[in-house]
Amino acid sequence: MTKATILGTGWMLAGPLLHALDPERAHDITLAALKNLPLPRAKPDDPRLAVQAFGLTFRNPVGLAAGFDKNGVIAHKAGALGFGFTEVGTLTPRAQPGNPGPRLFRLPEHGGVINRFGFNNRGHAFAAATLRPATCVLGINVGANKDATDRAADYVAGIRAFADKADYFTINVSSPNTPNLRDLQKPEALDDLLARVLATRDALAATHGRKPVLLKIAPDLSLADLDAIVHVARARKIDGMIVSNTTITRPGAIATHRIGLEAGGLSGRPLFALSTRMLAATFLRVERQFPLIGVGGIDSADAAWAKIAAGGTLLQIYSALVFSGPGLIADIKQGLCDRLAGRTLAAVVGSEATDWAT
Ligand code: FNR
Repeated sequence: MTKATILGTGWMLAGPLLHALDPERAHDITLAALKNLPLPRAKPDDPRLAVQAFGLTFRNPVGLAAGFDKNGVIAHKAGALGFGFTEVGTLTPRAQPGNPGPRLFRLPEHGGVINRFGFNNRGHAFAAATLRPATCVLGINVGANKDATDRAADYVAGIRAFADKADYFTINVSSPNTPNLRDLQKPEALDDLLARVLATRDALAATHGRKPVLLKIAPDLSLADLDAIVHVARARKIDGMIVSNTTITRPGAIATHRIGLEAGGLSGRPLFALSTRMLAATFLRVERQFPLIGVGGIDSADAAWAKIAAGGTLLQIYSALVFSGPGLIADIKQGLCDRLAGRTLAAVVGSEATDWAT
């Protein structure tokens, strides 16, 4: 059996059982299974899928989005699952429990997920001790403890704690589930945060190499907010941006869904249009000064292709894995190869950004 068949068959058996369980419990079981079950080594990717970005080489553009593996317990398995990169976190300096449950909800009819976890994680020390050498590019997504008095200092602590392990860092200022965290997207606060994070990164470069720092933003920003954020990001010379985190809006039919008004961030298919518009709007403002990672509602090769055309040099997925299982990763990669028809991926990036942004 090929790896794709093993993953596909495993999902056919496990998927319905997992969906009968409480969503958070199902996620914990999935993580434990991925951690403990031996996976066959990934077969090499089609060379046309290789991506150079932020000074790193990715063997394919499909990454595991932050939040799936908050504590880095399966980072070393992400390559075998077929991902080109994985992003561990969000990690805060000290372990914290997050919000009370229930705090994870599935909307299967819409391919959507709502979560209000609130940065539940086991803290820097646990993750640093747990992480094993990754089999693909490893991003570490850092945040601030809920009760932090100096939030920027928590991000700086994240850079220090993982400087020897991360291939890149993500500064997450866009989770809707930590009160006032998104205020760090305001220009003055953002400028101060990035200045401190980048100074730390630069000071550690001699010992650990210069690690790219990416900024992850919300899809709910106004275009005026986005103008200001991109201005700060460009002026500070960050290495990239990730667009986007979950939305606090409830587009279309979600507003009338039985659990559509649960508090928290919405992800999955209902986020696709909003996050792809925001990605395209960001792409046009960045003017290729740095690459972008497109995330939000990718559930097929078509959606992945659209995300690249809107401006994503790299992609990330979370929610669709809940509904389609890990076979989706191979389907997307195959679909991208099928659509290339002689072009390079780089030539497709942003080719439809203007259409998407309007
Ligand atoms: C997330 N996401 C997230 N993002 C982040 O930067 N830090 C985090 O800790 C989390 N946690 C988290 C938990 C859960 C349950 C979900 C569904 C999502 C956001 C995630 O990385 C991604 O930006 C969005 O989910 C949009 O992508 P998808 O899910 O539509 O593919």
